[in-house]
Amino acid sequence: MPARFSEAKTDTIPIRLIAPADVPDAFADLTEAQRSWIDHMGFAAKPGQVLSLADASGRPALALIGLGKPEVRKRTRFAVGAAIAQLPADTYRIDALPEDVSGDEVGLGYLLSCYRFDRYRNQPRVKAGLVAPPQTNAARLEQIAEAEALTRDLINTPAEDMGPDALEAAMRDLAGRFGAEVTATEGEALIGANLPLIHTVGRAATRAPRLLDMTWGNSGPTLTLVGKGVCFDTGGLNLKPGASMGLMKKDMGGAATVLGLAQMIMSAALPLRLRVLIPAVENNVAGNAFRPGDILTARNGLTVEINNTDAEGRLVLADALALASETPPDLMISMATLTGAARVAVGPDLAPFYTDDDPLAAALAMAASNVADPVWRMPFHTPYESMIEPGIADLDNAPKGGFAGSITAALFLRRFVKDTPRYAHFDIYGWQPSAAPGRPKGGVGQGARSVFEALPEVLNL
Ligand code: BES
Ligand code: MN
Ligand code: ZN
Repeated sequence: MPARFSEAKTDTIPIRLIAPADVPDAFADLTEAQRSWIDHMGFAAKPGQVLSLADASGRPALALIGLGKPEVRKRTRFAVGAAIAQLPADTYRIDALPEDVSGDEVGLGYLLSCYRFDRYRNQPRVKAGLVAPPQTNAARLEQIAEAEALTRDLINTPAEDMGPDALEAAMRDLAGRFGAEVTATEGEALIGANLPLIHTVGRAATRAPRLLDMTWGNSGPTLTLVGKGVCFDTGGLNLKPGASMGLMKKDMGGAATVLGLAQMIMSAALPLRLRVLIPAVENNVAGNAFRPGDILTARNGLTVEINNTDAEGRLVLADALALASETPPDLMISMATLTGAARVAVGPDLAPFYTDDDPLAAALAMAASNVADPVWRMPFHTPYESMIEPGIADLDNAPKGGFAGSITAALFLRRFVKDTPRYAHFDIYGWQPSAAPGRPKGGVGQGARSVFEALPEVLNL
């Protein structure tokens, strides 16, 4: 069930948002009993600190939530919304927001905190209802949170239940809700359709590889999203060690994130024409697996020497990006859990992205700070092109030396993008390693809210 705001009823409990500097002045209008309770409980308006107050007859009267000092607030953007989600069962409202507190951030923080992954086990639900904060577009926030929940569900679902077939079903389901069209090219048909790398990477798995293609909208600028849909990444014959393989159900995080972004776009009915391409495969091991040293020819004719079967994401994306470029969109975005190197560089919170388009980069950075979905620009450093050129073929999928692993992967992808000057690639992690406000441990969308926020400016909508 998607997280929703509550109806504005008369018997809701007011929430008071309090900065440490306002303590104790903010309590001047309260009863002596309440003030002594606040004192006893040590409420100091720390970020996300909550305290419920009763009236003289013991009925809930007011909830206090701490904002923390201005300098620490930036550390945990969704702390207030997450704190509201922890209040005792009842319906709450916010009558007034301090000048420097965004209603959107509080509201979205609350909705994102309501997410539960309960496909395999019931999870205790949030009991506190919240009326949409002042100055917010409730429907828009609900749509964003619902789309993020889709992304999280897809990533959290283990590979056994989220193979290429299930990813296709998820796309068809989404398309059905919004009247989008889906075509899928599966198994041996990939060869006839000239999508050889997708076929080669996925052919050793019992669940057939496929390219999923969804289109929606009939007027406005064109946007193509490409998402890495590696439903499980064993590494292939260059098998990952157990510890590295453990989380690889999340290797379709790019696909999950572009589907979430597509849901935001369609539910907001943005006036654009959308295409979503997902190469959906399982990188597995069998007698027909592709091997190190093999040289493969991609859709666009470039030959690729396989120096590591674990660098599979760039291979399946190569065909998808080449296909996408044959109908050049006004804007193209790829998202992929592409490299471990991206994690080493920026950690799990930041979504590094690459683009040659300065205005696009600036719009993304601005949007990211507005919607608390941090992204960080990385360089398409052209001098490193030589690192991905093995000599024996046009391209090397896994340069030796280990320098700049995220950059060389991005440069590899850029070789397959043609006639599309406005292109950005996100090398995301897709996983929250330990719970933070609004983000439980597990699958998480990265960059989607920022792109969604930036689209009106970038595409002149
Ligand atoms: N899916 C992985 C990248 C990954 C690993 C993302 C861990 C997030 C967390 C990708 O397919 C991969 O294995 N990449 C290799 C490439 C290397 C062999 C050139 C990597 O990053 O080690
Ligand atoms: Mn891999
Ligand atoms: Zn992978």
